[in-house]
Amino acid sequence: MEKSQANIRAAELRSILIEANRKYYVENAPTLSDYEFDMLLKELEAIELAYPDLITPDSPTQKVGSDRRKEFEQYPHRYPMLSLGNTYDISEVQAFADRAAKGIGNTFSFSCELKFDGTAICLTYRNGKLFRALTRGDGSVGDDVTANARHIRNLPQQLAGSDWPDEFEIRGEVYMPWEAFDRLNEEREKDEEQPFANPRNAASGSLKLIDSTQVANRGLECTLYHILGENLPFHTHDEALNAASKWGLPVSDKRKICNSIEEIENFINYWYTERKTLPFATDGIVIKVNELQYQQELGYTAKFPRWAVAYKFKAEQALTRLMSIDYQVGRTGAVTPVANLEPVLLSGTIVKRASLHNADQMEILDIHIGDYVYVEKGGEIIPKITGVELSSRDENVVLPHFPELCPDCSTPLVRDDKEARSFCPNQSGCPTQIKGKLVHFLSRKAMNVIAGDATIEHFYNKGFVWNIADFYELTKEHLLTLDGWKDRSAERFLKSLEESKKTGFERVLYALGIRHIGETTAKSVAAHFGSIDKIAKATREELLAVDDIGEVIADSIIEYFSDEMNIETIERLKAAGLCFEMTAGPEKLSDTLAGKTVVVSGNFTISRDEMKALIVAHGGKCSGSISGKTAYLLAGEKSGPEKLKKAESLGVAVISEAELRNMLGEETKEEFTDTLF
Ligand code: IVH
Repeated sequence: MEKSQANIRAAELRSILIEANRKYYVENAPTLSDYEFDMLLKELEAIELAYPDLITPDSPTQKVGSDRRKEFEQYPHRYPMLSLGNTYDISEVQAFADRAAKGIGNTFSFSCELKFDGTAICLTYRNGKLFRALTRGDGSVGDDVTANARHIRNLPQQLAGSDWPDEFEIRGEVYMPWEAFDRLNEEREKDEEQPFANPRNAASGSLKLIDSTQVANRGLECTLYHILGENLPFHTHDEALNAASKWGLPVSDKRKICNSIEEIENFINYWYTERKTLPFATDGIVIKVNELQYQQELGYTAKFPRWAVAYKFKAEQALTRLMSIDYQVGRTGAVTPVANLEPVLLSGTIVKRASLHNADQMEILDIHIGDYVYVEKGGEIIPKITGVELSSRDENVVLPHFPELCPDCSTPLVRDDKEARSFCPNQSGCPTQIKGKLVHFLSRKAMNVIAGDATIEHFYNKGFVWNIADFYELTKEHLLTLDGWKDRSAERFLKSLEESKKTGFERVLYALGIRHIGETTAKSVAAHFGSIDKIAKATREELLAVDDIGEVIADSIIEYFSDEMNIETIERLKAAGLCFEMTAGPEKLSDTLAGKTVVVSGNFTISRDEMKALIVAHGGKCSGSISGKTAYLLAGEKSGPEKLKKAESLGVAVISEAELRNMLGEETKEEFTDTLF
């Protein structure tokens, strides 16, 4: 390549890679797959190798991507926090082993480990206590996420034993196990919030939540794989990790000491298939020189250690036939193309449907009905189509047309270029959107009224409800005309509807079903403005000043309040007695627990958050960790054994839910069981 051409291509690659890094590390919404990113990076490296004077200081070949965000305090790393050299090819692992052998010039071994697909964290333990947690940041300075890290369930605040160094750093990966990831995305989908693309993004998004109490519900876990400090007493990496494990730190036992490239290759091949049985995502294997003295001798480049390398697994693909495309309308009117596939086995599950995202994606893929397509499961909930096998295309394939009219109500669709999506603008007349909004309004996390989807559809088909405010005008006479409804069921429903009028403002705001306003955003917006009238009057700038609100959400709120119909609905709901402003604070029930700090652990007959609210309502305080100042450890089912042990050692009283309720003068649930005897 000519130098002038190389210069242009290098500039182009730099800008693509810098933007992709920002999307990955800051927005947690990657635009390129790891493989695509790594291939473009390799191309840039090759150009810079041929023309070293084209290297710029901001080139992604020279520094790691940055996750720093202004909302967090930042601290410098004591030791730079670097990344790992990547390879997809065993011959490059061999080349790494050869380079290491040449540099060391003596016998040595490798430690092979899983490459956890999460987000890196650096923990400092001082005198056996978790002192600080930093993200990688830009490698030199990281974001302080200590408050959030304290909610990672397998991370000890206090080390076990006593033979730990007074101060040391331990680094590792925070990840979200598949189960927690699926649960979180299910909730986000229900709320029509953008689901996380994969557990890595979910983990790093969760670690950077502004409200640390929410982190506890995200089910994050952590595994640690690199100890650093002054004068540590270890000779090998393996020995150091074994010691960390003894101190109660989460260290993976899926490690192996290997003495040859064959052993390394066996380890890679074994985990290539076995990783599917793991409850969390792994994207490869990390191979490290085991002897710490040799690690030191080999040292680092500007970006990577010379003593370690990552072998990355390529995402698994399957080839199958595209049978048809459905265009689905969601509660907020977004129309999504979903591919129906000839069933195919992929990573252990049968795949029948795959996402096509939007019209642009369909065009980029040049996809035709009848084509053979590649499906990949990159950690998304539904797999995606990543390519078309053109060599298998026959003359019978048909070019699909993204509909111009809503598949449900035939209103012309509107394209939103910012989101690259098409919408049905008939918000108040499109049956799918109306029914979706009605169901959402009464759902458990919104107004929490007892009514199934089928009942609500029944109300709608009968013409009883069309707008969410219509629910509060339903009468017993209406309900008794429905098939199978009797006095009791009608009364039960009306009672639940009446109860729902006590729902707090943040949940009412969420229940309105404003596009992109999920539970979390509704909480922030409600707390920030305090009332619906203030939100309705807020300018775009004022909305953008709220934590977690970006342009898309701000515009969606403005659009909602510029529609007269929505204003009218809110007025009707206000008249029905719903709460449209924040109340003075939690209800005060008694002072029984005044001055007492309670640590809540395990499961109860109500959620842990509700239990904490109950304690606060009776004048108590809640804390996450047990200390000499703790009055009670409230231990539910499956409460943490460490907490019980600690309470015992500090002489803190351990009480059950029944004992607490007794103390508060409440009846316990046990009275129900009495009737059985
Ligand atoms: S060792 C000096 N070991 O992968 C770098 N990293 O793509 C020491 N990672 O930045 C890192 N599993 O965040 C190491 N077993 C493991 C790992 C691991 C995941 C992450 C880490 C690193 C990234 C590179």
